[in-house]
Amino acid sequence: MFETEKAPADNSRTMSVARIYDYLLGGSNHREIDRQAAEQIKLLFPELEDWAWCNRGFHQRAARWLTSELGISQFLDIGSGLPTQNNTHEVVQAINPAARVVYVDNDPMVAEQATKLLQGVDGTVFIPGDLRDSDSVFSNPELRQLIDFSEPVGLLMTAVVHFVSDKSDPWRLVARCLDKLSSGSYLVLSQGTYDKQTPEVVDRATTLYQNANEQLYPRGKAEVERFFEGLELLPPYEGAKPGVTFGGLWGAEDPELADDDASRALYAGVARKP
Ligand SMILES: C[S@@+](CC[C@H](N)C(=O)[O-])C[C@H]1O[C@@H](n2cnc3c(N)ncnc32)[C@H](O)[C@@H]1O
Repeated sequence: MFETEKAPADNSRTMSVARIYDYLLGGSNHREIDRQAAEQIKLLFPELEDWAWCNRGFHQRAARWLTSELGISQFLDIGSGLPTQNNTHEVVQAINPAARVVYVDNDPMVAEQATKLLQGVDGTVFIPGDLRDSDSVFSNPELRQLIDFSEPVGLLMTAVVHFVSDKSDPWRLVARCLDKLSSGSYLVLSQGTYDKQTPEVVDRATTLYQNANEQLYPRGKAEVERFFEGLELLPPYEGAKPGVTFGGLWGAEDPELADDDASRALYAGVARKP
């Protein structure tokens, strides 16, 4: 059994990080308790919805880039979230209809919705699983049927590692997943940051998430860069040096326009495994 930050609580009275995110993205799978938490955070950080869209936009731009420019045709999307419009398989299969996507999430409601939605969709599967127990995820027969580990994989971990505490060592957990992938695979990772936020915003958000199924651990830039140790970071946009950047800037056509308060609450990077 892997280590969890908190014992699972009664689902009806516990906020779910997946449902809060769904609410922010305009979905329909959320409860009053999730909406209230989001609205409480918005009182201090009105850009919260823009932040969610900024993160989702990064996820989609990076998946598209890996498919169209780098020829990646198989993806592992860990912490995939509730199915939204333009989910990963829709983005990558629009470019390469033969692309395969394995979705993984530890929220039972995500599992229920995603399994229904993906029924009959070629090249996709949903697997209930936890980043803190990647050995079970990687040994899943359905995953192994879809992913060829002798070929490069796009490992998508967007807005998920900030739900794993330092105590559980998310850096080791990410490295453990990468160890299983071949050279030429890519890590796409984003994480919420406190670097440009007031202590009040950070305190409000982390306190509210104490009542959620997963707690929130925002991090600084150096801690986010640690996720990419030993990898070759890509330049986030044309003319930039390789590195981790604020979320909206990655893949931006006009980085100046993309630089806003929502973007500055998210770090993002894409890197190749040598
Ligand atoms: C904010 S959503 C991000 C969804 C999607 N990756 C995106 O960026 O649009 C975070 C998702 O990670 C899932 N999650 C949180 N901790 C997890 C863990 N330890 N293992 C697997 N999934 C996790 C949540 O259930 C939720 O669906």
